[in-house]
Amino acid sequence: MIKVIKVEDYQQVSEEAFKVMKEVVANNPKAVLGLATGSSPIGLYKLMIADHNENGTSYKDITTFNLDEYVGLPVEHPESYYSFMHRNLFDHIDINEENIHIPSSLGDDLQKNCDDYNAAMADWQVDIQLLGIGSDGHIGFNEPGTPFDSVTHITDLKESTIVDNARFFDNDISKVPTQAITMGISNVMSAKKILMVANGKNKAQAIFDTINGPVTEEVPASILQKHNDVVIIVDREAAALLD
Ligand code: F6R
Repeated sequence: MIKVIKVEDYQQVSEEAFKVMKEVVANNPKAVLGLATGSSPIGLYKLMIADHNENGTSYKDITTFNLDEYVGLPVEHPESYYSFMHRNLFDHIDINEENIHIPSSLGDDLQKNCDDYNAAMADWQVDIQLLGIGSDGHIGFNEPGTPFDSVTHITDLKESTIVDNARFFDNDISKVPTQAITMGISNVMSAKKILMVANGKNKAQAIFDTINGPVTEEVPASILQKHNDVVIIVDREAAALLD
């Protein structure tokens, strides 16, 4: 079941998302968080950091699993998702480095990295999975056409995703990686609760299709209609096509 929360702007999206996240962490100091990168969660991460600093909310027993990582960027590259997560969240809270899981694109056996990630995930139950959404309806880097029963795998990014993400790479599409390792859709769906945040008119069609469209592999996020606990928080622009 999808609960939709419509608010005015990005700040309010982040504040509503923080309430949902805070409840999970406050109720269970050992919670397992599924985390996302991209611009959508940054406001939420800022509020988590502020709450950690001001109220002492601790992450020392929290475990995290990130959705995805680019292939072809060294971890120290500022746009690797490893760097992103440390810069935007992990470096500012008291999380234990060994409790952090991010798919690895190091080495030459990427399939083994995927298998290892699936095996690690199998040992845990994700309590809350945070998601952004691509303008093409992707979740993680599960692009349109990805089977709903997919697990962590190597994927080619769609042209539209490469164009969308060029803003992180000097607006130069030739610098954007063309492949990623991503949790699969079935990994995402196995979380107890799913929290999606979306803002901006670029997301309006994908949000409409996710909530009101048919459940189809052509819109990966439409599978969320089959999950029993989903909260989607949207600003006015992303909600523009909802009634
Ligand atoms: C990020 C991820 C992607 C993004 C999506 C939206 O870990 O898995 O699915 O959530 O591409 O990106 P932004 O938030 O930058 O619009």
